[in-house]
Amino acid sequence: MSGERAELFRELRNYLIFLRDNGYSEIPVQVSPEIMSKKLPPPSVPQPQSTSAQPEISGTSPAQLLSQVREELGDCTRCKLSQGRKTIVFGSGNPDARLVFVGEGPGADEDEQGLPFVGRAGKKLTEIIEKGMELNRQNDTYICNIVKCRPPGNRDPEPDEVGACKPFLLKQLGAIRPKVIVALGKPAASTLLGRTVKITQERGTWHEYAGIPLMITFHPAYLLRFYTIENRKAVHEDMKKVLVELNK
Ligand code: URA
Repeated sequence: MSGERAELFRELRNYLIFLRDNGYSEIPVQVSPEIMSKKLPPPSVPQPQSTSAQPEISGTSPAQLLSQVREELGDCTRCKLSQGRKTIVFGSGNPDARLVFVGEGPGADEDEQGLPFVGRAGKKLTEIIEKGMELNRQNDTYICNIVKCRPPGNRDPEPDEVGACKPFLLKQLGAIRPKVIVALGKPAASTLLGRTVKITQERGTWHEYAGIPLMITFHPAYLLRFYTIENRKAVHEDMKKVLVELNK
């Protein structure tokens, strides 16, 4: 099989796994004019099992799908974080990116600007992407968080807040369907893998979310706080593995 065909099959397989994991047992198809003219009954379009965490099938491009997700999120008041936020920080970058970074939640700068990772940790993340990986943050990546509103005092998001926001994160990932996901820190990794991740043991290892390879690495804020050669080297090594996977 040619490399291109193998890549197509891999992407198709990942998408089917994603659909299965999100409750779909059939694939909706468009009804052709020929079928309609023969007056055959149209194929039934399966209904999602629940309204949360389902990938939207109706749009075409990742950008359209993402904007549907943003529209559905609306001026969200699904959890108590909405009470103290200034701005919903949905995500930024290229909807067609092959690489998605998932962080924890907006801080003060992000809340102010409405964009993820624009504060100190964000500058470190940009440096990792642009200097370390030699990618362009805006063109080559998409960046989002588990929760879209700032937790007060930058505390960890609480389970009910993660529960309210996670469906939108999953829909974002379903819209983009990247080749690789990087979970930044324990909360992001634990949320995506659905279990408590031991970051010191599991960083630098590959996992899977909906058939998509998922790398766990340190959150840039942790890296800034514990700015040791060892930690910097660890993140560097993790990103090298990500680049190998992206270039496969
Ligand atoms: N930390 C995060 O996890 N996300 C941001 O957007 C900013 C800081």
